[in-house]
Amino acid sequence: MTEPAQANPQGRPPILEVRGGRKNFGAVHALRGVDLVARAGEVTALVGDNGAGKSTMIKCIAGIYGFDAGDVLFEGQPVHISDPSEANDMGIEVVYQDLALCDNLDIVHNMFLGRELKKGIQLDEAAMEARAAEVLASLSVRTVRSIRQHVASLSGGQRQTVAIARAVLWNSKLVILDEPTAALGVAQTEQVLQLVRRLADAGLAVVLVSHNMNDVFEVADSINVLYLGQTAAQVRTKDSSRSEVIELITSGSMSPVGAGSGPALSKTTTDSANGSTPA
Ligand SMILES: Nc1ncnc2c1ncn2[C@@H]1O[C@H](COP(=O)(O)OP(=O)(O)O)[C@@H](O)[C@H]1O
Ligand SMILES: [Mg+2]
Repeated sequence: MTEPAQANPQGRPPILEVRGGRKNFGAVHALRGVDLVARAGEVTALVGDNGAGKSTMIKCIAGIYGFDAGDVLFEGQPVHISDPSEANDMGIEVVYQDLALCDNLDIVHNMFLGRELKKGIQLDEAAMEARAAEVLASLSVRTVRSIRQHVASLSGGQRQTVAIARAVLWNSKLVILDEPTAALGVAQTEQVLQLVRRLADAGLAVVLVSHNMNDVFEVADSINVLYLGQTAAQVRTKDSSRSEVIELITSGSMSPVGAGSGPALSKTTTDSANGSTPA
């Protein structure tokens, strides 16, 4: 059930692996044993009910909090990511739910926000514009009229696109998207999902936080389910059904998982859940 961490056709380790991650906020045990495998070329969905720990988990991976315990492996090597710039240096980018775009700046300036290209002490506008255009073109983004328009004038889907394009400017290896379609209508959701798929097809590891099963089953190769701060299971999308995933989300368990086939994600769904479902 739970997929083995190492079994990848090229024999390469996953881009990211988390084993037994824990995080407390004072008395709140937000993460109580989370495991995740994210591979290059794949979309890994991270799902779970409200409060399950999804946002906390990605903030730990991104170095905003750091895990209190557990192991993080990046391309097979143990790492400690203690601040966001370390995560960025490794090639980890996160697109948060609020997107953190500046409405009064244009698309180019938003894509380079905080990491502007300079020529001497001046901004290198031409280089930034060329690179922004190149990245948007490489992502087949055609819905934006001009990359010099202010982001205030963009639709929700276009804003999401700009935030995602910003994340892939930097030789990224792992891009984490927190609920990118939550605020979007049907057509824009479809555009963003196609973009998510293209990121993976371009060789990135993509982690897609979502609680929309349509989105998840449309684009994800693998689905990681969090339940009350623990990983219930990570399953291959093609080997699982919506009803199975929904059962994992609501009860934290299904059939027994990971029975002894190599270095499976150890998980462990029943030791804390007591059969209760979240309200
Ligand atoms: N900064 C924080 N301080 C205290 N508790 C927090 C903090 N952030 C998250 N939590 C708690 O951790 C749990 C997981 O929250 P979160 O990661 O936001 O879940 P999700 O993103 O899956 O909805 C919740 O019980 C939440 O109240
Ligand atoms: Mg969240």
